[in-house]
Amino acid sequence: MSVVHPIHGGNLIWAASQAGCSPDRIVDFSASINPLGPPESAIAAITAHLDRVKAYPDPAYTQLREHLGHFHQIPPEFIWPGNGAAEVLAWIARHLSQLDATYLFAPGFRDYWRSLKAFQARIKPVQLNWQATSCPLPHPHGSRCGLLLNNPHNPTGQLWQREEILPLLEQFAMVVVDEAFMDFLDPCSEQSLIPQIAEYPHLVIARSLTKFYSLPGLRLGYAIAHPDLIQQWQQWRNPWSVNILAEVAAIAAIADTDFARQTWDWLPPTRDRLLNGLRSLSRLNPIPGTANFLLVEIDGSATQLQQTLLQQYQILIRDCLSFPELGDRYFRIAVRSDRENQQLLQALAHLLS
Ligand SMILES: Cc1ncc(COP(=O)(O)O)c(C=O)c1O
Repeated sequence: MSVVHPIHGGNLIWAASQAGCSPDRIVDFSASINPLGPPESAIAAITAHLDRVKAYPDPAYTQLREHLGHFHQIPPEFIWPGNGAAEVLAWIARHLSQLDATYLFAPGFRDYWRSLKAFQARIKPVQLNWQATSCPLPHPHGSRCGLLLNNPHNPTGQLWQREEILPLLEQFAMVVVDEAFMDFLDPCSEQSLIPQIAEYPHLVIARSLTKFYSLPGLRLGYAIAHPDLIQQWQQWRNPWSVNILAEVAAIAAIADTDFARQTWDWLPPTRDRLLNGLRSLSRLNPIPGTANFLLVEIDGSATQLQQTLLQQYQILIRDCLSFPELGDRYFRIAVRSDRENQQLLQALAHLLS
């Protein structure tokens, strides 16, 4: 298979082929993964349960759903574990394809388009006015439509308040909120709609363990939705999409309150230092965001910068070509350790001066 320009971040094989080094030499700012993880508790759980790979997982995922239910203070019947948020979003897309259309914000995570298109869903893009203080939300005018939004929003880092989203539940036949990055906000600032789930049978939330717990290779996400929806989706997919090791790692990770606290203490000051560092560089306009990544506007070509950073510094940034509304004028970077952030800032200072 040839190494083609990737659509998603975190493609170290591609990056290594461009940089002429081995994948483990790449400093990856392109995938927005918590550098403090994965939690040792999750790795220890995997190691301790290796022998369980001899048996099939419980197709009802009873234990995992109980733990996630306890974690979110909701009944386990509202939880549907999947092979990453990407998998549950794909089946949700099948559901959305039965509606008249689905509204999607642009720019937005490209995988929503792929999943919706796979089920021939009709898509109505809505321009996200993210440079303005508030973004007018769409009105579907009488038809039975869905809305799929991402809070906090990838790639801008914008956060909608609960009160901005809740009125939309009156207008849409289904509102899906992808909260893949919500856990980076501490309990005082997060805006999750999980506490509202029992009140709205057409509200669906997607969550992921990939970003916050640094487990992209394990593949664990889940949908939170009314049990009737979950029952229907369960009939569509293969019975064992979550493997046993992902199940035990997830149970350990969500119980690890020390890890969560460390991440909440680490992120805001580290992100501020990175933002200020970027602001001090010529030709860059970083956009303040609430998640563990920053979108940056560049006066120049982001893909050219990406190539030079790879070839000269083995640093990978995320180009925004998969967000056509942003194109080559923007790039996205994860917030990493202070040492690595400094390494990136020095490389940028050198290349942009
Ligand atoms: C907004 C958003 N949602 C969902 C996902 C998929 O997450 P997972 O790894 O759990 O499939 C990603 C991954 O990049 C993402 O950025």
